[in-house]
Amino acid sequence: MLLLIPLLLCLIFPPSTILSLNQEGLYLYHFKLSVDDPDSSLSSWNDRDDDPCNWSHVKCDSVTRSVNSLDLSNTNIAGPLPVSFLCRLRNLSYLSLFNNSINSTLPLDISMCHSLFHLDLSQNLLTGTLPHTLAHLPNLRYLDLTGNNFSGDIPDSFSRFEKLEVLSLVSNLLDGIVPAFLGNISTLKMLNLSYNPFLPGRIPSELGNLTNLEVLWFTQCNLVGLIPNSLGKLKKLRDLDLALNNLFGSIPSSLTELTSVYQIELYNNSLSGELPSGMSNLTSLRLLDASMNQLSGTIPDELCRLPLESLNLYENRFEGELPESIANSPVLYELRLYGNKLKGKLPKNLGKNSPLRWIDVSNNQFSGELPASLCDKGELEELLMIYNFFSGKIPARLGACLSLTRLRLGYNRISGEVPAGIWGLPHVYLLELVGNSFSGSIARTIAGAANLSVLIVSNNSLTGAIPDEIGWLENLMEFSAGDNKLTGTLPESIVNLGQLGTLDLHNNELSGELTQRIRSLKKLNELNLANNTIKGRIPEEIGSLSVLNYLDLSQNKFSGKIPSGLQNLKLNQLNLSYNRLSGDLPPLFAKDMYINSFLGNPGLCGDLKGLCDGRDGAKDAGYVWLLRTIFIVAALVFAIGVVWFYFKYRNIKMAKRAIDKSKWTLMSFHKLSFSENEILDCLDEDNVIGSGSSGKVYKVLLNNGEAVAVKKLWGGAKKEIESGDIEKAQVRDGAFDAEVETLGKIRHKNIVKLWCCCTTRDCKLLVYEYMQNGSLGDLLHSSKGGLLDWPTRFNIAVDAAEGLSYLHHDCVPPIVHRDVKSNNILLDGDFGARVADFGVAKVVDAIGKGTKSMSIIAGSCGYIAPEYAYTVRVNEKSDIYSFGVVILELVTGKLPVDPEFGEKDLVKWVCTTLDQKGIDDVLDPKLESCFKEEICKVLNIGLLCTSPLPINRPSMRRVVKMLQEVGTENLSKSGKKDGKLSPYYYDDASDQGSVA
Ligand SMILES: *[C@@H]1O[C@H](CO)[C@@H](O)[C@H](O)[C@H]1NC(C)=O
Ligand SMILES: *[C@@H]1O[C@H](CO)[C@@H](O)[C@H](O)[C@H]1NC(C)=O
Repeated sequence: MLLLIPLLLCLIFPPSTILSLNQEGLYLYHFKLSVDDPDSSLSSWNDRDDDPCNWSHVKCDSVTRSVNSLDLSNTNIAGPLPVSFLCRLRNLSYLSLFNNSINSTLPLDISMCHSLFHLDLSQNLLTGTLPHTLAHLPNLRYLDLTGNNFSGDIPDSFSRFEKLEVLSLVSNLLDGIVPAFLGNISTLKMLNLSYNPFLPGRIPSELGNLTNLEVLWFTQCNLVGLIPNSLGKLKKLRDLDLALNNLFGSIPSSLTELTSVYQIELYNNSLSGELPSGMSNLTSLRLLDASMNQLSGTIPDELCRLPLESLNLYENRFEGELPESIANSPVLYELRLYGNKLKGKLPKNLGKNSPLRWIDVSNNQFSGELPASLCDKGELEELLMIYNFFSGKIPARLGACLSLTRLRLGYNRISGEVPAGIWGLPHVYLLELVGNSFSGSIARTIAGAANLSVLIVSNNSLTGAIPDEIGWLENLMEFSAGDNKLTGTLPESIVNLGQLGTLDLHNNELSGELTQRIRSLKKLNELNLANNTIKGRIPEEIGSLSVLNYLDLSQNKFSGKIPSGLQNLKLNQLNLSYNRLSGDLPPLFAKDMYINSFLGNPGLCGDLKGLCDGRDGAKDAGYVWLLRTIFIVAALVFAIGVVWFYFKYRNIKMAKRAIDKSKWTLMSFHKLSFSENEILDCLDEDNVIGSGSSGKVYKVLLNNGEAVAVKKLWGGAKKEIESGDIEKAQVRDGAFDAEVETLGKIRHKNIVKLWCCCTTRDCKLLVYEYMQNGSLGDLLHSSKGGLLDWPTRFNIAVDAAEGLSYLHHDCVPPIVHRDVKSNNILLDGDFGARVADFGVAKVVDAIGKGTKSMSIIAGSCGYIAPEYAYTVRVNEKSDIYSFGVVILELVTGKLPVDPEFGEKDLVKWVCTTLDQKGIDDVLDPKLESCFKEEICKVLNIGLLCTSPLPINRPSMRRVVKMLQEVGTENLSKSGKKDGKLSPYYYDDASDQGSVA
């Protein structure tokens, strides 16, 4: 048989082309032909050489010239694994295909690679079960299959590996149990099974027999039960990682016999009891993380005497004091103890000997002064101590800690002046001193805090004026200094803070007036100046702060009229009470529901009952009169409304005509069968088919009988031109054009085609292909939802995933959609799905809208990934979250947010319902039960995509892959398992974030 192969090869390559390449070269050459090589990584592999020993990625034995090593890692090759050719290289002992796109199963005849010593197929797209024949490779020492899609059980035969030292199966889809027979592979040094959806099971005590083991990595393996005592026998173990499981009981004292252990990770389990005594035996221990358990008792002194680098015990129930000895570690850089019940002082010398970088002792009962030495080594970046009972002053030495980026001392009892250096730390972006007893003033040194973006000093006893230098902090997003004793006027320079969203200075003694230039605070969302002594008019310009939604100017001395522009704002809170305002109430506010907003302004005598304190006596007499007035006002409003509507409608018509006349520029991306005039003629209100946050959408029927959809973006440039900012508007136009051009270049079957874009200075039209069946969201959540049977929904999911995957992985640079939702997935006549509106969020920003509060956070309610709570960085992972929500919509038929869920959104609802009631309460009852197994698998993918931690979400490419697998599996085998979910996917769905 073996002899036949060369013969066959000769038939495939006619002898004239093969000059002299030897047998092994031919095998490799054939390998090259059987895979996809988009980067031409194998270009040096040719049939003109004598042997393959000089080819790239190939190594030969120096004497026999026989190939013994093939390292094809990171070569981007794709396709199936041609084992039949590779395994004929009789001396091949090293094979690595790390990080490619090998997408077949791993064939059983891998066992023909007799000489293999090292096999690395990690980070590929391999599927199917693990071949049991791997154990037949007599010399195999290293087996790494991390990051593939292997599923099923770990084969029994694996107990028979004779020389295996490394077994790594991390991040696959293995869904059996962690088998006890792994304890038989006595040669093992490294056993990595993390991140697999195993069935709930115990840690086999047999693993204690692996006395050569150095690394045991079982993060997120669905392990339950006790940690077996036998693990204490692993005398060579350096790394024990059992985090993110459901282990309970106490930490066995046998673990103190792990004399070589360097790192122990036990976080996020349900462990209870105390840390075992005898930890001083762990002389090699440098990192211990047992956070997020229910451990109690004290932190043992003997533990702290070890030279620890990182000690994380947050969110447990530890009590008592922190041993002084923790300050002796010469290597300690991380200390996280927040969320315990620790009390007493922090060790006086903490930081003196240790290069501390991150300290978080928030939410404890610590007291006493802050140690002065915390930053002595000059490495400290985060110092988080909120919610304790610390007192005394901030040590001046901390003011010289230039490495600090986050300083949170809120809610303690610290007093005295804040050292001048603290105000001006150059890298600090969060300075929180709220809820202490600080005195003195905000120092001018704050000018140096170039990175400061959140400054919270409320609720102290700060005095003096707010320094002018505050206006230099161009990154400042929040300035909260309410409940202090600040005096003087609000510095004029504050209008330079273009990023400022929150300005809260209530309950101070500020005076002076509010400047008109406040209009330049374009991002101001909350303005609270209540209870000061500010006088003068409320500037009319306040009405142009279009994202303002909280305005409290109560209890000041403002006079004059209420700016009518306030009616343009979408205010959640408006309080102008107890000032000296006069004149008429703007019509919008002349309603009972606003009465509390205007109380205590004697000059403000609108027609609202109870508004004028002084007129209470005349109330009864005025009652009839009041009713009459209300009637008249109502009639008047109606009449005005009719007239307004007439004019408005006329305006639209006129504006349309004006559009026709003005100059249009057309950017087209495809061969067009229509002209821009044809489009402009049809932009009638009658043709509106939708309206979103970025603009209206019209359906336009062309003369040739076809239809297009035209999106008219809300103009934004116009305002700027009025205010003389033409230059800015032009820059933005440039950004818009560039952006649209990128969008126009995209060609993919699952992405809505952008035909062209027409622009004038103040109006932009995007012309898209028309999608007959409208949006998925509209269809799914309307009475017509029944039209979408499961196979249709499944195909929609796959289509949309492919579209997004294309944006993320095949566009350069990658495109982040930013607003993935069912309303942006459009359906053609055959219910094929295409992704729409991608990047439009960015385009809309580019034309200077960026002002509606919606676009501060890109995305739509119910689809926004949880990480937006702490970062505003937009990346692919947030799209993947939103796509997960779309999958959940498809599976449940429910809206992403629905009053039915109470406080929860769809993601939380699905997780809790699964937990409490089971799968049947989650699935859309309209779906046919015969598809249950497949639906459950898709639901799993949706839950994976909506993992609270971005890092746990699969890439879009992988999502496509997983969806396709669900599809093909279901073609090949009928459902025999009942649709039971592995808890792996939703167990950690409740987000456990740090409190600080
Ligand atoms: C595997 O990859 C090859 C090459 O990219 C591709 O042609 C083939 O369709 C893929 N097969 C599967 C099952 O995805
Ligand atoms: C392996 O460990 C188990 C339980 O810890 C024990 O019963 C068994 O005898 C051990 N086997 C070997 C071969 O040492």
